[in-house]
Amino acid sequence: MRKILVTGGLGFIGSHTVVELQHEGYEVVIIDNLSNSSRDVLKGITGITGKEPLFVELDLKDKQSVQDFFRTHNDVDGVIHFAASKAVGESVGNPLLYYENNLNTLVYVLQELNKLQAANFIFSSSCTVYGQADELPITENAPVKPAESPYGNTKQIGEEIIKDSCKVSPNLKAIALRYFNPIGAHESALIGELPIGVPLNLVPFITQTAVGLREQLSVFGDDYPTTDGTCVRDYIHVVDLAKAHVIALKRLLDGKNTTNFEVFNLGTGTGSTVLEAIKSFEKVSGEHLNYKIAPRREGDVVAAFADTEKANTELGWTSELTLDDAMRSAWKWEKKIRNK
Ligand code: WQD
Repeated sequence: MRKILVTGGLGFIGSHTVVELQHEGYEVVIIDNLSNSSRDVLKGITGITGKEPLFVELDLKDKQSVQDFFRTHNDVDGVIHFAASKAVGESVGNPLLYYENNLNTLVYVLQELNKLQAANFIFSSSCTVYGQADELPITENAPVKPAESPYGNTKQIGEEIIKDSCKVSPNLKAIALRYFNPIGAHESALIGELPIGVPLNLVPFITQTAVGLREQLSVFGDDYPTTDGTCVRDYIHVVDLAKAHVIALKRLLDGKNTTNFEVFNLGTGTGSTVLEAIKSFEKVSGEHLNYKIAPRREGDVVAAFADTEKANTELGWTSELTLDDAMRSAWKWEKKIRNK
């Protein structure tokens, strides 16, 4: 049985990916430092698959711990690397925390991976590397723009670190997956998004408002050049995203990659405005959402949605779940964790 390390495997996308890996028969070992997750997520994963993954609580910033881990687990066949800080706003106020936590850790994992025979690496990247793209939909050839935040910069630099490593390490094969906007939860409502404090992202703020945790949603601007004046995003169901990781990993394990460093955009290919997202939520939940129009948020791009051609044809992956499916699952999850 092939053994896969998932760093950040108790996080939102990580936990959903662990479930899909186990469904596909992989043995999974999770590293997480629990800075943005909890051990309860392990119960959720096990509740879904009936198999408890091995969990090692470890902070990847501790180089010695990373070396010790790989000395013990020198039979890892691949790594899916989610572990990173991901709050755009927080990164602006605390850049060094982001450069240390997102980049030092990546270097330490790659240094150990290079010592293994099978060095297959999947990197969690983001469409944020494109900034406001000149053309829509966004293809993988769109220029990487100067990052608007240290968080976005860590994704750009991270990809460069991996690309440079692949050039000199013949056994290292890597794929960077550039996510658009991951939303939703597993249909079982045993795992989902667990934002700490006030949610920065749209969908958890919607569900927390509807469940009564937040007074009102602020829609950040309705004077953008879009169909209804609100920003456009490509909201992709987290389960579709998780499945893409397993397909990308299999591509490397089976030697189907065409170059040692590949990049794929992961989105639905459809853009939705903030108001359309709200309407979708109201439709599937039957709730009326309390929101107001507020000033624009600094740093927001007007529109971003993926050209999915490369992922569809070369990776052999297509999203299957809709915005309504994602909203329905997000709402079921929110009610479950609030015992509503
Ligand atoms: C979506 C839209 C907001 C909250 C970021 C990162 C990206 C990834 C996902 C980590 C925007 C609007 C939001 C609210 C609102 N993060 N909005 N009211 O900014 O597209 O992407 O999160 O991997 O890398 O850049 O996502 O959900 O914050 O915003 O009106 O309370 O919803 O203006 O138009 P974003 P988001």
